[in-house]
Amino acid sequence: MSNYKNLIESQEDGILTITVNRPEKLNALNATTLSELKRCIENAYDEPNVKGVIITGSSKKAFVAGADISEFTELNELNGRKFSERGQEIYALIENCLKPVIAVVNGYALGGGCELAMACHMRIGTENAFFGQPEVSLGILPAYGGTQRLTQIVGKGKALEMMLTGEMIGAEEALSAGLVNHLVSTKEEGMEKARKILHKIFKNAPLSIGMVINCVNATFSKEEDGYQIEANSFANCCKSGDFKEGTSAFLEKRKPEFKGE
Ligand code: COA
Repeated sequence: MSNYKNLIESQEDGILTITVNRPEKLNALNATTLSELKRCIENAYDEPNVKGVIITGSSKKAFVAGADISEFTELNELNGRKFSERGQEIYALIENCLKPVIAVVNGYALGGGCELAMACHMRIGTENAFFGQPEVSLGILPAYGGTQRLTQIVGKGKALEMMLTGEMIGAEEALSAGLVNHLVSTKEEGMEKARKILHKIFKNAPLSIGMVINCVNATFSKEEDGYQIEANSFANCCKSGDFKEGTSAFLEKRKPEFKGE
């Protein structure tokens, strides 16, 4: 396991847990934290023992309260574009990870924090979770993919309301808007729920899991034809050993043993 300044990484039963750890700043993402997050996600791609990822925050109050505003004083037109593109690139790594990634949102998920949760494949919120894109109150806008992903997840009207008012919504409202998959009382309960979902997923064929993520992501891509990708993925599954194993196991009334090939 690598050592990080602002992240805690732990691994158990195939699950890599990444905890953003700058509680004194409500886990705000400064440049160091963002670079560490990138490195950590890249390791999750490469590490065969990691089958799924949970991202959460260490503070009792916050998941991630946004990008670090104290670093904004350096921003201008030129490096502002780079700032946005770098965040977009790292969040796309999360979204395109072929292993499931779940956010356990244990408090404020604001700005880049809300965008981080939305880059994950699923979100579990605790009762004290708040979601918001307050960037307009700072004279900027959500720029780590938030204008796109919030619209995809909650629809245009609700997304515009949140992004134009900059106001936060609480956990109940996030649940009814579809921004979180599940609402739980405490972070511990959220972690347990995330682990349960991941272990259900791990029972299935790894190639199929990755391909489903890929096909679903393609729904939102302008360059890709999601139906074509779906058909190609299906064809690839049909030539895999796991497909033979899954169907044979069903017919032989036994549990499948998938190998990811
Ligand atoms: N960037 C940098 N520092 C942040 C931060 C952020 N996004 N969010 C919180 N912090 C810091 C505060 O400056 C404070 O640091 P200090 O103790 O050194 O002064 C510390 O975290 C605690 O935050 P504080 O504001 O005192 O907590 P609170 O409970 O009163 O308020 C929030 C919580 C989340 C409502 C408030 O911190 C806030 O509005 N944060 C900014 C959210 C935001 O706009 N995010 C989007 C950025 S694009």
